[in-house]
Amino acid sequence: TTQTAPSASAPSTAVASTGTAVTTAAPTRSSGAVGTSHTRLEGRAKVTGAARYAGEVPFAELAYGWLVTSTVARGRIRSIDTEPVLAMPGVISVLHHENAPRLRPGVGMMGPDATLQILQDDRVPHFGWSVALVVAETPEQARAGAEALSVTYDEEPHDVVFSGDHPGLYTPDGGIRGNTDMENGDVEAELAASPVVVDQRYTTPEEYHSAMEPHAAVVRWENGRLEAIDSNQGSHAVAQDLAKLFFLDATSVRVRSEHVGGAFGSKGLMRPHLILAAMAATVLDRPVRVVLTRRQMFSLVGLRPATAQRVRLGAAPDGRLRALDHEAASFSSTVHEYTEQSGQPSRVMYAAGALRTRTRVVRLDTPTPSFMRAPGWAPGSFALESAMDELAERVGLDPIELRLRNEPGVAPASGLPFSSRNLVACFEEGARRFGWADRDPRPGSRRDGRWLVGTGVAAAAHAAGTVPSSASLTAEADGAFTVRIAAADIGTGARTALAQIAADALAVPVKTVRVKIADSDFGHAFLAGGSLGTASWAWAITEAAAALRERLTLVDHIPGEGITARADTTDLVKAMKGQERHAFGAQFAEVAVDVTSGEVRVRRMFGIFAVGRVVNPLTARSQLVGGMTMGLSMALHEEGIRDTASGGLVNADLAGYHVASNADVPVIEVDWVDDPDTYNPTGIKGLGEVGIVGTAAAIANAVRHATGVRHRDLPIRLDRVL
Ligand code: MOS
Repeated sequence: TTQTAPSASAPSTAVASTGTAVTTAAPTRSSGAVGTSHTRLEGRAKVTGAARYAGEVPFAELAYGWLVTSTVARGRIRSIDTEPVLAMPGVISVLHHENAPRLRPGVGMMGPDATLQILQDDRVPHFGWSVALVVAETPEQARAGAEALSVTYDEEPHDVVFSGDHPGLYTPDGGIRGNTDMENGDVEAELAASPVVVDQRYTTPEEYHSAMEPHAAVVRWENGRLEAIDSNQGSHAVAQDLAKLFFLDATSVRVRSEHVGGAFGSKGLMRPHLILAAMAATVLDRPVRVVLTRRQMFSLVGLRPATAQRVRLGAAPDGRLRALDHEAASFSSTVHEYTEQSGQPSRVMYAAGALRTRTRVVRLDTPTPSFMRAPGWAPGSFALESAMDELAERVGLDPIELRLRNEPGVAPASGLPFSSRNLVACFEEGARRFGWADRDPRPGSRRDGRWLVGTGVAAAAHAAGTVPSSASLTAEADGAFTVRIAAADIGTGARTALAQIAADALAVPVKTVRVKIADSDFGHAFLAGGSLGTASWAWAITEAAAALRERLTLVDHIPGEGITARADTTDLVKAMKGQERHAFGAQFAEVAVDVTSGEVRVRRMFGIFAVGRVVNPLTARSQLVGGMTMGLSMALHEEGIRDTASGGLVNADLAGYHVASNADVPVIEVDWVDDPDTYNPTGIKGLGEVGIVGTAAAIANAVRHATGVRHRDLPIRLDRVL
């Protein structure tokens, strides 16, 4: 294969990149931890197995729950035959809609979320819905009981077929993921008056996060409190929802999530495994663990819905945009309305005389979609950045030059200034490092044996805000400092980054800082999501450090229990001024297409980003490389195939659902440009999501350059290439 054979024009084949130095205003006297690579504080514990994940923490008297899910896509449960299962060895209980604890309706982190209302009635809204939990003394006995449980259904007709012209499409009516339709100027008039018009449709399929660590929770009642160890992205928010759902005071619930093995959005909200474990622990009054199977993760923890998008670009002959219209449709379930906001990139990327984004959604009998890495931005950028490549060809401009010509002064949709942007620097530096100047723009002009070779480029962007969080810092009597914050480290290195932040804010070495995270008792903190975590948590820690340092000037010794300062940034966040805050980047890809098999191999990728202040170059680089790898996977491999007859997913496992493996991933280089940002005093922007944005378009544009064929439907499978 060719994945390790970069072309002669490649400036470098080194995988390691240290990143350029990033200099922004330091919060206080700096000891220099921020900006310096640091291995993960818990790395050794993880690779030696000492770190315990939610499914591994040992408990005395633990019982095991095994979930039974529906085998029909729509209907009602007629009967559940529990007697034979209750007679099986080790089986303790079978929970189902007739005997499970009642839950408070209307609970949800972002509005009422009926996906939490499990085992509450006989309704089956999709294939793979929770219908029963078999609890037994061992996981094997629970599984045997679950497999033996007979559930009969009264089936109803279902519809799981999404398309961009489904008659059920409607305009969502609001909410966080609701209607964001906007129009500046008169798009139709500008399109009609434009000498050059690109009008194309793009589709992306169902995509799944499928984190390495399955969703798992163990729950027990301890001293009158419901205590959970759960795999999630935000222990505090999950604890609050858990309390509400079970009619408990917030103080009666504690959720901890010390180690989390991947999430990508699938663990952002409370998920059924935790609710089921809490139900069983309550009914049985003993600790209960529930771990989802890989297959169950394909129906119960969210997915990126398929999208159908239409992008219309109207331009002057010199490439300047007169109109940009981005219409995006996706599906949700009948349970809960989630809309994939694929129009988002079009609201910030380019200056257009008239701009419109519209969102449509249709409710199908499918599992409920949810946030998946760069929700909206990832599929939306595939459409927009492909369309820009098509426009570049039409007007005979280099695709980078086209983007530079349409660089906006302020955010096109809101009219607000950007806190920082630096996309031009990404393109200029990226073009130099990737060797873009040598490119012959003619499609099909490079051949290497049986391979056609091409290069492509795309822009990347992702929202990067700051949200309220709280943190505490304790000066210990032994000279160490302890940070407590309900942040989550989902594998990103957040714990280490926060230690670096605290060390600099206290002007002490990193090794004197202990970081305790992911415990709802630490108070509110935003979840590890939306590329909002590090900036938001770092600000709270920085504030707590300032308060602690002030306290320490007033004392001459530290008592046994230490001295603690707390900070809460809620008021600071409220006082922030109106700015658009986004991470940006430029993605470059070189692909080779086998003319005999249609196989697309990515030979090399280079991503260069403007992500504000980089706390830990080592783990920041991993996040960006990981995002680009996921984007490569999106471009070439990932595709959930829904069976229209059963309504289930054909490939609900990691054998059938293809993700890029090591052999698919070539040299990926990552770097970042100086990007000073003073939106909040930490200077940090999020970088967990921007890495996946634009990657698929860069690859699709490279395939077009290699072969002369434009692919507007993902993934670019070899049968589509031939
Ligand atoms: Mo994410 S999709 O920011 O949890």
